[in-house]
Amino acid sequence: MMSSAAIADPRAPHTAPRKKGANLEKWGWIYMRASGVLLVVLIFGHLFVNLMVGDGIHGIDFAFVAGKFASPFWQWWDVLMLWLALIHGANGMRTIVNDYVTHAGTRRTLVWALWIAAGFLILLGTLVVFTFDPCLGLSDDSVAWLQELCA
Ligand code: HEM
Repeated sequence: MMSSAAIADPRAPHTAPRKKGANLEKWGWIYMRASGVLLVVLIFGHLFVNLMVGDGIHGIDFAFVAGKFASPFWQWWDVLMLWLALIHGANGMRTIVNDYVTHAGTRRTLVWALWIAAGFLILLGTLVVFTFDPCLGLSDDSVAWLQELCA
């Protein structure tokens, strides 16, 4: 049997008194749209350059990645994509958790876990992009002992 719970008119003006301070839900909503538009450019640009230009997918190896990370343009492209997508994904998952998880404590824990995971991955990814060293820290001095050993 269908229950007949009334759903509020979605276009009715908001009547409850407005809370003071920034409307974070509104800014989160705007962020999803704005980051979505930027992500279309960043993600499809990324796929086009990696998979279709030159040798396409067959050209992808360590040297290809090292070559891209040697350029500040691609470093910033990738970091921007990383930040925008992770915040977009975490905020989207926050919406889903808020919609479906009814227990307040579980909801709070999951939303915290989402931001901690996103923050950790953003930190790790940003460090990788900006500290990437194709020579793995090796120099003539650092490998001299190995050359002597193998001589
Ligand atoms: C081409 C790039 C993308 C575009 C244009 C885009 C666009 C959007 C938009 C407009 C929304 C809001 C939908 C709503 O409020 O009803 C949304 C939600 C969402 N997005 Fe994206 N997105 C993109 C990429 C991504 C990526 C890379 C991820 C994952 C890291 C992601 C995860 C999510 C999630 C989890 C939601 C919440 C879905 C929901 O509320 O049911 N999106 N996306």
